[in-house]
Amino acid sequence: MRMYDLILKKRNGGALTEDEIYSIISEYTKGAIPDYQMSALAMAIYFRGMTPEETASLTLAMAHSGDMVDLSPIKGIKVDKHSTGGVADTTTLVLAPMVAACGAPVAKMSGRGLGHTGGTIDKLESIPGMRLELSVEEFIDNVNKCGISIMAQTKNLTPADRKLYGLRDVTATVDSIPLIASSIMSKKIAAGADGIVLDVKVGRGAFMKDIENAEELADLMISIGNSVGKKTVAHITNMDQPLGLAIGNALEIVEAIGVLKGGGSKDLLEVCLVLGADMLKIAGVAKDDGKAKAMLKDALDSGRALQKFKEFIKSRGGDERVVDDVSLLPKAKYIERWIADKDVFIKDLMAMELGLIAMKLGAGREKKEDSIDYSVGIMLGGKVGDLIKKGAPIATIYANDKNRMGWAAREIKKYILLSDEPVERPILIHK
Ligand code: URA
Ligand code: CA
Repeated sequence: MRMYDLILKKRNGGALTEDEIYSIISEYTKGAIPDYQMSALAMAIYFRGMTPEETASLTLAMAHSGDMVDLSPIKGIKVDKHSTGGVADTTTLVLAPMVAACGAPVAKMSGRGLGHTGGTIDKLESIPGMRLELSVEEFIDNVNKCGISIMAQTKNLTPADRKLYGLRDVTATVDSIPLIASSIMSKKIAAGADGIVLDVKVGRGAFMKDIENAEELADLMISIGNSVGKKTVAHITNMDQPLGLAIGNALEIVEAIGVLKGGGSKDLLEVCLVLGADMLKIAGVAKDDGKAKAMLKDALDSGRALQKFKEFIKSRGGDERVVDDVSLLPKAKYIERWIADKDVFIKDLMAMELGLIAMKLGAGREKKEDSIDYSVGIMLGGKVGDLIKKGAPIATIYANDKNRMGWAAREIKKYILLSDEPVERPILIHK
């Protein structure tokens, strides 16, 4: 099989066979296919698409390109949750302890942030002492003892996806539905969960800008998951505006603790309840939506979810006192508030741009190798439709550099739009 012929076949609109796809992925992982040929293939896939069968083969070939994690030493049905990436999306940090407190084991491998979106591992590492680079044995032991573990993806999880994603990122081939579906599902399948709950983001801050594309992506991922025997469901949720109010690593820990204490962002909680209910149903812990949501609310109201988060932090060597005293988290040197000089409604919060401002303050990475500053970011005063009273903050900026603070304070005003008239709240969960 010559790579040239396979590129030509896809370029001309043909479908690759399972054998052809497995061979491409194994040769590419070994380094026997050069990046320029793989880039050409990615671009041909971008324009020609893939059949559901090709996408399923690509997913499985990438899943098997590295470690296949075996979670069978953990008792019970393990359900994973995945978000396609967003801004102020702190769901995992709220959801995982809530679900674990209801008795479903949570064994989650997470990534780090890139570009305008944050990553769960970075957020958790803002808690002093946390160690999340675990071996699979430590991970399994953590879940068996604590009911919950979250670890950084192992180095050898889906190496083919790691290489290909890096290539797509610099060749304008990220936003292809079959490439995104196979990238996400290969990691989920290799990470070993029995069931998968997907949060497919749609809107200006997401890969999918419209609902039709988001639905196509969701349907494709559901069919791949179910075809390998993993019960898979998806929700399509709004990412026109940030989900929660905090953008930045330690700030998002503060927000997650706030929600676990019964306060914080209502939208964030709503998405957690919807995704969490599916996790409990798939795990066989709750029979229907009503029961699942009641269990999750009880875990929250009784303080058991918060207690579970604390237990998890302690089990990973972290300072669990942050749960009661968030001032133990890294603090920014400069804090600047944009104060409302009259009563105003929030008309628009541009998710992508706000995520990029936080990234440039140091909260995220432009390139994989960049280091991040846990303390910086943006805390929003409300969501679209909320009234900000005169004298209250529209947004608060956290920075460690005076120049960057000045820049962010000017920039943020372009991407948070205000109105004197009431503004309708956008739909949070589309489907
Ligand atoms: N997230 C992934 O893991 N892969 C993609 O291709 C897009 C989002
Ligand atoms: Ca994420």
